[in-house]
Amino acid sequence: MSTASEPSIVKPQTLIAADGLGKLFPGRSSWWGTTSSFVHAVQGVSLRVRRGETLGLVGESGCGKSTLGRLLLRLIEPSFGRVFFDGKEITHLSEGELRPLRRRMQIIFQDPYSSLNPRMTVREIIAEPLRIHKLVKNANEELERVSELLQKVGLRPEMMPRYPHEFSGGQRQRIGIARALAVEPDFIVCDEPISALDVSIQAQILNLLSDLQDSLGLSYLFISHDLNVVQHFAHRVAIMYLGHIVEQLPAQGMQMTARHPYTRALLSAVPAIDVGKRHLPVVLEGEVPSPLDPPPGCAFHPRCVRAIAGKCDTDVPPFEDVAPGHRLACFNPAPAGTIDLAP
Ligand SMILES: Nc1ncnc2c1ncn2[C@@H]1O[C@H](COP(=O)(O)OP(=O)(O)OP(=O)(O)O)[C@@H](O)[C@H]1O
Ligand SMILES: [Mg+2]
Repeated sequence: MSTASEPSIVKPQTLIAADGLGKLFPGRSSWWGTTSSFVHAVQGVSLRVRRGETLGLVGESGCGKSTLGRLLLRLIEPSFGRVFFDGKEITHLSEGELRPLRRRMQIIFQDPYSSLNPRMTVREIIAEPLRIHKLVKNANEELERVSELLQKVGLRPEMMPRYPHEFSGGQRQRIGIARALAVEPDFIVCDEPISALDVSIQAQILNLLSDLQDSLGLSYLFISHDLNVVQHFAHRVAIMYLGHIVEQLPAQGMQMTARHPYTRALLSAVPAIDVGKRHLPVVLEGEVPSPLDPPPGCAFHPRCVRAIAGKCDTDVPPFEDVAPGHRLACFNPAPAGTIDLAP
C-alpha cells in the first residue's frame, strides 16, 4: 500500500525504512546551566532494509550506529525525519498505537549479560515477552514455547531453571536471541552482537543468526565496527561516519566496488583474501571530529585525501545512486574497479 506522501524508498519489498532521519541529543551544559550545544548523533539518514535481508551498518565508535538502530525501532524519538515499517509511517505513532508493532521489531545487544536480568531464570527471561504480549494461554503452553525457543537457539530445555551467570558469553547471547525470537519478530536490530565474544564463539553466533534468518525469514540491521565481519555476513553494507551514511553497496565484491575514500580506508585495513592482490593499509590521519561541532560540508573532509578545497569543506554531498544498489555521498570518489585502495 503506497500513499502520495511516502518516499520512493518505501517499496513493497521494504520492511523498514528511514527517510532523512536525525537525532540531536542535548549536549554538555555550560557552567550557568543552559544547554550550550547539541550532539549531532544521526544527521538525516535515509536507508531501507528489505524483507529477509541483512543490512550491515559499519562505522567507528560514536558515529551514531546504535542511535540509528534505536530510532528505527522507535525506542528513542527522532528529532527530524520519518520511519516506515511494513509500508506504514510509524514516526508519530503513540506508544499504544506502537504496541502491536513492538512485537515485530526486536533488538539484540552487545553485552548479553547486562541485558539479562541476573535475578531471573532463563525460563522467566524468555517467558516475560510471551506474557507481556499475551502469546501463551497457560503455564503448560508457556513451558512448551520456552523449551522450543531454547532448542531453536541451540540450548537444552533442561537449562530453564538456571540463572544467566551460570552460562558462558556465547550461551548468554543465545538466551538473548531466544528472548528476541519469543515474540516472532520480522525485524531485529543486532547491535554488535558478537563484539564481546571470543573469536571462536563469534562464528557460531553468526551461523545461528544466519540459520534463523533462513528458517524464519527475518530481516536484520547488523551493527558492527568490524567491516571484515560485516562484508561476509551482510547482503548490503551501509558505511556511517559522524552521523551520516556515506556509502551503501552490495557486500559481495565491495573490495572492488567501494568508492568513498572513507570506505576504502576501512577496507584497506581488512585482509583482501579474495582479490589476489596485496595492498597497503590507508592510515586515516587525525581524529574523528566531535559530533558536538561537526565540520561544515562533507563531515569526512578534514581527514579525506581526496577532498577538494572550496567544495568538500563547504557543500554537503548528496547521497545519490551511482550504480544499481550502490549509493554514495562524495564529490570526488575514487574510480570503481581498482583494488589499489590508496587514493
Ligand atoms: N542519550 C544520549 N545523550 C547524549 N548523547 C548521546 C546519547 N546517546 C548517544 N549519544 C552520543 O551520540 C553519539 C552517537 O552515539 P552512538 O551510541 O549511537 O554511537 P555508536 O556508533 O553506536 O558507537 P559505539 O560503536 O561506541 O557503540 C555519540 O557522540 C554519543 O556520545
Ligand atoms: Mg553502539
